[in-house]
Amino acid sequence: MKRLRCDQTPAWAALQAYFDASGRQFDARAAFAQDARRFEAFSQDAPHVFADLSKNLIDADSQALLLALARQCGLEQQRDAMFAGELINSTEQRAVMHFLLRNPPLAQEGYAPSATNNIAEAQGQVEATLTAMLAYAEQVRADAAITDIVNIGIGGSDLGPQMAVLALGEFAAAGKRLHFVSNIDGDELAGVLRRLKPGNTLFLIASKTFTTLETMTNARSAKAWFEAQGGQGIARHFAALTTNVAAANDFGISTTFGFWDWVGGRYSLWSAIGLPLAIAIGAAGFREFLAGAHAMDAHFCGAALEDNLPVRLGLLDVWYRNFHGFSSRSIAPYSSALRRWPAYLQQLEMESNGKRVDIDGQPLPFDTSPVLWGEPGTNGQHAYFQMLHQGTSVVPVEFVAVKQAAHAPNDLPGHHAKLLANALAQAQALMRGKADAGGHQDFPGNRPSTFLLLEQLTPASLGALIALHEHRVFVSGVIWGINSFDQWGVELGKVLARDIEPRLHSGDVSGLDGSTAGLLQRLRP
Ligand code: F6P
Repeated sequence: MKRLRCDQTPAWAALQAYFDASGRQFDARAAFAQDARRFEAFSQDAPHVFADLSKNLIDADSQALLLALARQCGLEQQRDAMFAGELINSTEQRAVMHFLLRNPPLAQEGYAPSATNNIAEAQGQVEATLTAMLAYAEQVRADAAITDIVNIGIGGSDLGPQMAVLALGEFAAAGKRLHFVSNIDGDELAGVLRRLKPGNTLFLIASKTFTTLETMTNARSAKAWFEAQGGQGIARHFAALTTNVAAANDFGISTTFGFWDWVGGRYSLWSAIGLPLAIAIGAAGFREFLAGAHAMDAHFCGAALEDNLPVRLGLLDVWYRNFHGFSSRSIAPYSSALRRWPAYLQQLEMESNGKRVDIDGQPLPFDTSPVLWGEPGTNGQHAYFQMLHQGTSVVPVEFVAVKQAAHAPNDLPGHHAKLLANALAQAQALMRGKADAGGHQDFPGNRPSTFLLLEQLTPASLGALIALHEHRVFVSGVIWGINSFDQWGVELGKVLARDIEPRLHSGDVSGLDGSTAGLLQRLRP
């Protein structure tokens, strides 16, 4: 399908004219003073997530122009193409159907498969695999001998499950410790193995391709450790989560849970890659997690663009990146359970949209993915919020807060109210600012933020929150005219590492640049 790239649309030129005329000077404080209903106009309920966008540098005019941009870029058609199973990942000739993993019965609203697509067949495989994986999760949960589960995987085979297991710790089974080993740094694996007994351990080797250097190296070392420690029964103590079941079998693992090439690594938490989460929260919890994401899918497919939260957030991201020129976004989950949320979003957004050519391979004359970074609140306040309030660059902040704490408020009186008060106060301070003639205590204010609010952090609300971000990243990717579903940028370094490793042993620096050669010589024993 031919897509109109954003910079070729009339709306893009209109947005630029609007920005030059007044958008650049927009002041959220003045906008609130003029419009008593601004909060209602720029906030909305989506499934499991309430979003307040009203402290952002947008008004009705800029929002209308951004929505026109979305329409002119064919956002609705692209969305429908994804949900119809078309090969929208064109550089790899793949469909992008992670939504199917959380699509309970067929013919749900918006998903009725046409006779010409591959959705119906895939859906059958999904349900069969999910049922088997959840039965296995329950079996592990019931197996008192298994006390430690070690997920060995990296990137999408680590960040999603790790983030979600931490986020839903309150729902986790007692008596099971989950560990995540991703780095090839042997210190990480050694630090975990030190605490384990082979007979009580289940290793999950999580890799879409089952070729990734880090994961294969860690998996081989884990297997060697297991055997050296006298472990018996690889079938009981190792399982593989992969699209490459043959490679897992060759490795010696017979317990496998598969998925498909139409599931991108950073979108794979809903597949067998979610097994650590299923073990932690159980089959019913995992189905609730999928249902929460599905509710967000239905919202993305069904809501008018004006009331479509992933669309509104994705367009805001374009507005900030391409017109205001903001180069980063700070992620501030005011929830310790969501402490890996910023890291998870880094891969989701930066690996998806960190692209410099369009879908046809043409260099882009505008910017794409911002840098995402952050730490949980209130910790970030005591580290880098100084820069957010008084630094020379404007960084939009995205708060995530949870209304009901997981702990009983009476057990730890005051904590949660203080946490929420701080989230509100930081967002307020960023916008409000404070005048001080002396300079050092002057806060310019008008610094934008978005506030996402969950009633409670549950499997369903976490599922919805993640799906919201998946779709938001898709939206900005469509506007930019890029392929959000490949990641060629990670390949070159992998190839060069394969060349360098033997040189560390041999000392051969021929053909290397001076810096790499100098460092290599210093790193040799
Ligand atoms: O190197 C990047 C990447 O390909 C990610 O996209 C992916 O999530 C990660 O590596 C891990 O890949 P795999 O699951 O195949 O081991």
